[in-house]
Amino acid sequence: MEITPSILTADFCNLGETLDEALKAGISWFHMDIMDGNWVINKTITFGPALVKSVRDFLGDEVFIDCHLMITNAELTWKQFIDAGADMIICHIEAVDNFQNLISKVHSHGAKIGCVLNPETETSEVLHLIPYLDLVLVMSVVPGKGGQSFMPSVENKVRELRKNIDLQIKNGGKKTKLMIDGGIKDHNADLVSSWGVDIAVVGSGLINNEGTVEENLIQIKKSIKT
Ligand code: DX5
Ligand code: ZN
Repeated sequence: MEITPSILTADFCNLGETLDEALKAGISWFHMDIMDGNWVINKTITFGPALVKSVRDFLGDEVFIDCHLMITNAELTWKQFIDAGADMIICHIEAVDNFQNLISKVHSHGAKIGCVLNPETETSEVLHLIPYLDLVLVMSVVPGKGGQSFMPSVENKVRELRKNIDLQIKNGGKKTKLMIDGGIKDHNADLVSSWGVDIAVVGSGLINNEGTVEENLIQIKKSIKT
């Protein structure tokens, strides 16, 4: 299972240092949490395309950057994040009117797109989209901030999506990735890996004052046995 840092909990005045630590630790996928102060329940505002551009310029072209769009008008603004340097946008099924249409627009723009479900959203909302998606993201916290507690109740949803995607790949379909996001630490990384998650987003478990990104990453990777 791959680990990708959410930079949400970083000190943005020392972001270059944090990114350098992550690169040194061998991280090649970065998760940027975009919140517009409207869509998420606690009305958080994080950052926009300008920071995405700075992060892309700093990291160079080798790494993969996704933007998790927790915003009200993703269908109108998604292109700003791709043009700023993101490889993929991950949009909420709860926030997009015509997801199928968005998928074709993003793909014709040469970018990748994922679909994210809030903890209470059923898989039935996205199953018909999976054949066209580059990634499905299951939230294991209610979107809005880093450092929240993990919700194990999403297990069945993750396992059902895993089964679905495996069948799709077996039948020659898209190799859609399965991601989880929220509350992942060294005490539950192995659990979600055993559920069949391909990539886990880790924010406060990687970027914190306890240790460097590298030390925290080693801790988490050591805990993964499956
Ligand atoms: C929550 C974000 C998550 C969060 C993860 O709204 O989508 O990416 O930053 O942070 P931790 O790992 O601290 O829960
Ligand atoms: Zn996120």
